[in-house]
Amino acid sequence: MSDQWIPPSQRRRGLDLAALGVRPGRYVLPDVTEFLVSADGNREGAARLNAYLAGEASLDTLQPAEVAFVRQHFLKAAEEQRQKCITYFETKVPRRYGSAQPNELAAAWAQSVVANPEETRSLLVVGPTGTGKTHYAYSVLRAIAETGTTTGWAAYTAADLYAQLRPRTGRDSEATFEGISGTDVLFVDDLGAAKLTEWTEEVTYRLINHRYEQCRPGIFTSNVPPSQLRDALGERIASRLTEMCERITLKGDDRRKGMAA
Ligand SMILES: Nc1ncnc2c1ncn2[C@@H]1O[C@H](COP(=O)(O)OP(=O)(O)OP(=O)(O)O)[C@@H](O)[C@H]1O
Ligand SMILES: [Mg+2]
Repeated sequence: MSDQWIPPSQRRRGLDLAALGVRPGRYVLPDVTEFLVSADGNREGAARLNAYLAGEASLDTLQPAEVAFVRQHFLKAAEEQRQKCITYFETKVPRRYGSAQPNELAAAWAQSVVANPEETRSLLVVGPTGTGKTHYAYSVLRAIAETGTTTGWAAYTAADLYAQLRPRTGRDSEATFEGISGTDVLFVDDLGAAKLTEWTEEVTYRLINHRYEQCRPGIFTSNVPPSQLRDALGERIASRLTEMCERITLKGDDRRKGMAA
């Protein structure tokens, strides 16, 4: 998801949002005339606010009512941003996984990705059919949305990915590859579900290698038991996945059986 567009005249660096208790982000600045017409409004306060918002004065030059005015504005902006991220997630997630809720581990991973993407290891979710791998992965993407940051994400089954990337007349598959491989957080579901052909192995390798080299976090799922990953995906891919991923093993019965009427 791209950042909300903010007119350059309204972009300011260096506002200490953390001191206000507001999550870092790029928010539209408050309209100081709203302060002027508020119960606490006065010209001196408005002038101090303008200086602060222009980055010419620090937070401690403001009176408590003025601090409260900016804090309230940015908290509201941050909450609106968070709601937008959740709405975006809920629009994009496949219906079946729309209600997947993150557990503590998933939420912690999302926080780490947002704060420090390059140092956060990817997730490899493994387990037999129906144990909840896809569900878990989408719960992680929800957790990312809930942070309210504009961290971009994209989700594909491996099969859909190959369909997207297959060369077709009139379509620049290299540009598609760049778009996918450059996503902040990439979720690829069902790696190794089908026997790799020379072409799918090469595409998977390029993608994983790109993410590996750029230290970009991702979520991968597979039905293939870890001991068979090398056979199923090839040495080069399996080796990179092993190094770059934290493994999450889901156990138990096929949940779908329990759901059958
Ligand atoms: N933690 C959970 N709470 C509630 N329902 C769940 C949970 N995990 C999975 N499910 C449900 O169980 C079913 C199977 O889950 P899911 O599709 O994630 O399995 P999977 O491991 O990805 O299976 P496959 O290997 O076939 O792709 C789905 O209907 C899913 O919504
Ligand atoms: Mg699945």
